[in-house]
Amino acid sequence: MQQATSAPSGAGVWFIGARGSVATTAMAGCAAVAAGLQPPTGMVTETEPFADAGLPALPSLVFGGHDTAGCPLPKRAEALTGAGVLPPGLAAAVRAELEAADTEIRAGGPLPGDRRDDEELIAAFAADMAAFRGRHGLARVVVVHVASTEPTPAADAARLPPSSLYAAAAIRAGCPYVNFTPSTGLRTPDLTEAAAARGLPHAGRDGKTGQTLLRSVLAPMFLQRALSVRAWSGTNLLGGGDGAALADPAAAAAKNSGKERVLADTLGHIPQGQVHIDDVPALGEWKTAWDHIAFDGFLGSRMVLQTIWQGCDSALAAPLVLDLARLVARAHEAGLTGPLPELGYYFKDPDGGPACLPAQHTRLLAFAERLKAAAVQGPPERAAR
Ligand SMILES: NC(=O)c1ccc[n+]([C@@H]2O[C@H](COP(=O)([O-])OP(=O)(O)OC[C@H]3O[C@@H](n4cnc5c(N)ncnc54)[C@H](O)[C@@H]3O)[C@@H](O)[C@H]2O)c1
Repeated sequence: MQQATSAPSGAGVWFIGARGSVATTAMAGCAAVAAGLQPPTGMVTETEPFADAGLPALPSLVFGGHDTAGCPLPKRAEALTGAGVLPPGLAAAVRAELEAADTEIRAGGPLPGDRRDDEELIAAFAADMAAFRGRHGLARVVVVHVASTEPTPAADAARLPPSSLYAAAAIRAGCPYVNFTPSTGLRTPDLTEAAAARGLPHAGRDGKTGQTLLRSVLAPMFLQRALSVRAWSGTNLLGGGDGAALADPAAAAAKNSGKERVLADTLGHIPQGQVHIDDVPALGEWKTAWDHIAFDGFLGSRMVLQTIWQGCDSALAAPLVLDLARLVARAHEAGLTGPLPELGYYFKDPDGGPACLPAQHTRLLAFAERLKAAAVQGPPERAAR
């Protein structure tokens, strides 16, 4: 492809974990919605309050990314069709878009045996991101982390975890950043400071798509009805790549701390009970999450609420990933910098803001109004927040 010569315009999305289920579903889904083949069900940014917020249009988004796996995107999309994530015929209908994105995926790392140090890896990743932006003449590229969940790094670890290498690369390349996983990413004091110094907005972490989404609705109900939650236990059964990654107890612990945080933030204490994650490969991309909530009512009467959530994980995550990419691209264009607590609606472990979903939604709508006002005011300015 030729180097673009006209003034940069438009937004790109650079997925870390670009060949994974969530990224592939997001790219295939974006192409399908842009072509009018599917409605934008689940995309909050396609609802009326966001109509004039100046978000990049879905057909204008350009995709690329890093991955350590080599399976071509069209093949990955076929596998997701077989698993029932993508509807029949969709992968073939958007094959051209998937092939185009596939040519923009670069080798991620570090793979076993990679001798590059952290600085060399960051420099290589940043160069890939900047080259993508230049090739397509894009005004900005949002880096969205959707790679496999990594274990929480030890406090005295000598090297940065891979997610933080990519976050450092995003900052070096001048890219706004989203972390949709529980991995560390940009959540280190040095990287958070570096993002602020570069005037970059960022949002994270760990997408709130199922069990925790339900918890962020139910926990405020108990609180507001003055009911006393004694114990809140949960079990997740899931397959797919995420199930395999979370079979590692250290990776599962990183995921579960976000699920616990919503209860602590809402109820003011952590009730008894734990969350378990079981890898059940036979379930493929489908997840079952069971919650068991023991609570006390008037005069100490003991009661229980049980919920069963059965969802297609990538179909829940993909529209949120597209929402976040568009919102953070627009925030960057509007000159917003630093963490965006207004996007806490999307995360299990947000950068501040309220913990319950209705309050988070109100904050998101206020953010849409703010972006709308910035769109009306005209030329973007880089403003301290
Ligand atoms: N509902 C949801 O699906 C949901 C919700 C919240 C968070 N998440 C998180 O999103 C992430 C992606 O989920 P998924 O189902 O797509 O998983 P997946 O296993 O299908 O995809 C992960 C991809 O990351 C790639 N990868 C691993 N290490 C890498 C590295 N160092 N550099 C670049 N790429 C690397 C893998 O090769 C794979 O293609 C997971 O961390 C998951 O916990 C998903």
